[in-house]
Amino acid sequence: MFFASDNGSGAAPEIIAALTRANDGYARSYGADPIMARVKTLVRDLFDAPEAEVHLVATGTAANSLSIALLTPPWAAVFAHADAHVAVDECGAPEFFSGGAKMIGVGGAHGKMTPQSLSDALSRVGEGGVHGVQRGMLTLTNVTEAGTVYTPAEIAALTELAKAKGLPCHLDGARFANALVATGATPAQMTWQAGIDVLSLGGTKNGCLGVEAVVLFDPAKAWELELRRKRAGHLFSKHRYLSAQMEAYLTDGLWLRLATHANAMGARLVQGLAQIPGTSLLHPAPANMLFPIWPLGTNDRAAARGAVYYPMPAPAGHEAGRLVASWSTTDAEVDAVLTALAP
Ligand SMILES: Cc1ncc(COP(=O)(O)O)c(C=O)c1O
Repeated sequence: MFFASDNGSGAAPEIIAALTRANDGYARSYGADPIMARVKTLVRDLFDAPEAEVHLVATGTAANSLSIALLTPPWAAVFAHADAHVAVDECGAPEFFSGGAKMIGVGGAHGKMTPQSLSDALSRVGEGGVHGVQRGMLTLTNVTEAGTVYTPAEIAALTELAKAKGLPCHLDGARFANALVATGATPAQMTWQAGIDVLSLGGTKNGCLGVEAVVLFDPAKAWELELRRKRAGHLFSKHRYLSAQMEAYLTDGLWLRLATHANAMGARLVQGLAQIPGTSLLHPAPANMLFPIWPLGTNDRAAARGAVYYPMPAPAGHEAGRLVASWSTTDAEVDAVLTALAP
């Protein structure tokens, strides 16, 4: 009954098998391993982006922070949803790696900016001449921190506004595969075709042991990213172990199979919760992350019965939680947590 996060799951057997294979013999270090060359080809093919450059790191925070540092100068504003991981859950790493760029929290229900909330923020910032930060970049998250998803059209509507001001656009795809499965979009539709310049492509939460890719759809800044990654201490010497995970993840649709399962477990939770009196969802939950709201006393009762998830702030007279299903969640685990949550 572990629903605290999808990164509480183990690594998928295919990933462990790939690591075992990569462990054999010797390989060039620092990204010059032959597996990395194959990862680049895989990403270029899957994203229909023959020019794309790919750099691997071990955490989502590193992928996001390095992407942000690459796209914006220190004196500029990063437009992010007010609840974005980059804004509230990375201990200031994007500000640190960018040399002090300023996070501007953009509003919007259910973890999503709207064209209106973004244009309001864009018009508020960067108008003060030398005395204020300049407009720097846009960053979006998909799946969002509220468990909702942006469609490619919704992303395009936001990036158009940013691009009208000359701003580059980043997508935090810590749960990118779950967003693809939930929307049915292709990797290209969700990214460069919708105006995304740089993607943090997550692997860890969806069955890898620890790997994320920074995908640059315009390779012009690839060398700069290479230097920034090294300078930040995120260039692995035994890089083949990162490459091996990403290769296995993207081969034969494994990433989409794992995400399809996680989302199906999310849907099973949604259906089961709908049967529990007094329970509803704070946000739509089309992927693998849910924010249910329920009667007082539910959290303690479920914890006493062995359910593990994060209690969340709730409106007066209620309690709430965050439940995340993963690639390894089983039907039986979902059914058990539903029983634990029931009166
Ligand atoms: C939306 C989002 N972005 C990025 C990350 C990556 O974080 P980490 O640095 O823990 O790998 C997470 C992990 O919780 C996340 O939820």
